[in-house]
Amino acid sequence: MSNRLKVTPNDLNAFWMPFTANRQFKQAPRMLAAAKDMHYTATDGRKILDGTAGLWCVNAGHCRPKITEAIQHQAAELDYAPAFQMGHPIVFELSNRLIDIAPEGMEHVFYTNSGSESVDTALKMAIAYHRARGDGSRTRLIGRERGYHGVNFGGISVGGIVNNRKMFGTLLTGVDHLPHTHLPAKNAFTRGVPEHGAELADELERIVALHDASTIAAVIVEPVAGSTGVLIPPKGYLQRLREICTKHGILLIFDEVITGFGRLGTPFAADYFGVKPDIITTAKGVSNGVIPMGAVFVTKQIHDAFMTGPEHLIEFFHGYTYSGNPIACAAALGTLDTYKEEGLLTRGAELAPHFEEALHSLKGEPHVIDIRNIGMVGAIELEPIAGSPSKRAFQAFVKAFEKGALIRTTGDIIALSPPLIITKGQIDELIDHVREVLRAVD
Ligand SMILES: Cc1ncc(COP(=O)(O)O)c(C=O)c1O
Repeated sequence: MSNRLKVTPNDLNAFWMPFTANRQFKQAPRMLAAAKDMHYTATDGRKILDGTAGLWCVNAGHCRPKITEAIQHQAAELDYAPAFQMGHPIVFELSNRLIDIAPEGMEHVFYTNSGSESVDTALKMAIAYHRARGDGSRTRLIGRERGYHGVNFGGISVGGIVNNRKMFGTLLTGVDHLPHTHLPAKNAFTRGVPEHGAELADELERIVALHDASTIAAVIVEPVAGSTGVLIPPKGYLQRLREICTKHGILLIFDEVITGFGRLGTPFAADYFGVKPDIITTAKGVSNGVIPMGAVFVTKQIHDAFMTGPEHLIEFFHGYTYSGNPIACAAALGTLDTYKEEGLLTRGAELAPHFEEALHSLKGEPHVIDIRNIGMVGAIELEPIAGSPSKRAFQAFVKAFEKGALIRTTGDIIALSPPLIITKGQIDELIDHVREVLRAVD
């Protein structure tokens, strides 16, 4: 750890922190200075067990040698290459490697720099795909209540988290929302996929009846909603959505920014549920969170619909200066090597039963009103303090950090999504931290 990082600067004012209670933070900063495998090191030298894979992204754990070396090597060899009308070898190599592990039917990949950009890319692709086929009236986008699809205008329009939407005007037009699938009265304390609620997918038929299928381009959902507090799809729900989309010629987009790259114990959630979407958005785990990168997977049918017209003309007027950036590609290749060597894209399946047991052992602890889990994602929902929603979980987050564990909270829900290298002993340790803070909060 360099000396510079050990010291907390005495003026924290200039940095306006994202998705942060800035004033609270700056009074009592929580600073991370270093990381290795399952742990962060705080600036005061304390080891912090990472219960959240950073922000759901560090699936292979921290500062892994293959990734570090790949980045160092690439930075010295080819630092940047223009993304438009030019290529470089490793972006093609990476694309083939990604398609090898992507769910069947995904044959092409388009690069972005984040989940938010992947989502907006996918939404634009869906609308442009229909238009390229001469079906240009299909422009509506259907999202879902409580959905999180990043923070760009497309993503917050199809998203369904009120605080992410209400300050930002009228958003995109022509968007409708499915109901969310959170049914605590029926499904509380379910282990794995909940029994009740598949019929909520039929709401898509109601939306189609209202707008007519000929106006709808795509439905976008997270197979498992993460950032809104871990909402697991009811048994049969995603299959039903797929059927209805297919019946009406509507594209189905899975936002796998969190579920992609082994989080559920399969490479992607599409594999876990056995449902084939038309487009998959990813980011985070594609490069282990180390260098910003996103990747959008599409079927041949979607890609080929654009490959018409004169060959010297650009087919899709979209892309980013850093799409397929060489250093990001190197990080992703180092990440894929690490996943492969250590079996991390499926390791979650081996750990999940232990994780489930440990999580559900928190039933009966103070404030706990629901526990839910799937693969290596878990949530503990707390009874809110009357009149102060989110306060109890936030207290738990702060106390957990003080005691040596990084957990994540959304509203009054604690979400856990540790790196996939976690050991069973570390799972127990993480849950013990949570138990301790639950007993300590107001
Ligand atoms: C499902 C989903 N989509 C999109 C995003 C946005 O990703 P980013 O923060 O990289 O823009 C997230 C981030 O958590 C996410 O969970």
